[in-house]
Amino acid sequence: MTMVTSDDVRNAYDGAEGRVYELMMGELLHVGGLKSSLELADLAGIAEGSRGVDLCCGNGASMRMLIQLKNVASMIGVDLSEKQVERTAIRTEQAGLGDRIRVVCGDACETGLPDGEADFVWSEDAWCYVPDKTKLVAEAVRITRPGGTIAFTDWTLGDRPLADAERESLFAMLKFPGLWSGDEYRKALLDDGCEIVEINDVGRFARSFELYHDMFDLQFGWDVLQIFPGDPALLEMLTGQLAFVRDLGRAGKVGQTRVIARRPVVGHTP
Ligand SMILES: C[S@@+](CC[C@H](N)C(=O)[O-])C[C@H]1O[C@@H](n2cnc3c(N)ncnc32)[C@H](O)[C@@H]1O
Repeated sequence: MTMVTSDDVRNAYDGAEGRVYELMMGELLHVGGLKSSLELADLAGIAEGSRGVDLCCGNGASMRMLIQLKNVASMIGVDLSEKQVERTAIRTEQAGLGDRIRVVCGDACETGLPDGEADFVWSEDAWCYVPDKTKLVAEAVRITRPGGTIAFTDWTLGDRPLADAERESLFAMLKFPGLWSGDEYRKALLDDGCEIVEINDVGRFARSFELYHDMFDLQFGWDVLQIFPGDPALLEMLTGQLAFVRDLGRAGKVGQTRVIARRPVVGHTP
């Protein structure tokens, strides 16, 4: 089994892969884009004037969205990739939100942020990259204030098991050190003293990958070759990979799960 490390993930997002993902999904780099983000915010009850932390913030689009569309007061973003941190800083300045968003380059498992200050911790489709998810969940709970909310989506294992060869290909291709199921997130959050509000399959994973496959196959071939210059065979490989992920989604082997939990006002401290 190929071992994927955080250096592999950082290199991917610092380099060409990060640019291809943005071509595929847009600025909100997760399955379901704005629709998924707004659902998560509404179901989690993200309040006007609240202060959040985005663990694995990418280029900062979710943080800008939460401020611009949900009137959140301020956000702190943490991301491993220097390039993503730079994109966050530039795009946030361009959006005129420099006084409301701060971005930190580092590992989401060790943010160095103070205990219990965030009204909510947020993340979208990124914890799949983190090797030690138990530590990450504990860090999310630690920085959330008592009574605050932890709201995220992530790529998760489905109801049907991946074959060994599928697991090997998927994890090596996407730089996943491992995936959790919704139940593993439930257990970790309960172990850290949280109350679960909901853990549900979002239900649009396969459809989204049908879309990404068809966009690259029918429309964006040339744009892909501007990022990975000159080799149409590479484009064919990429569309094949998108079909592979789409088919895993259709088979119920991989999906996107929405998780919303609350840190109780009194009780366990992680
Ligand atoms: C698919 S992108 C999602 C970005 C953002 N959440 C969004 O939805 O637009 C995943 C991001 O997670 C970041 N990442 C992966 N592992 C990380 C870690 N251990 N600590 C902080 N960031 C990490 C990557 O650098 C990348 O920017």
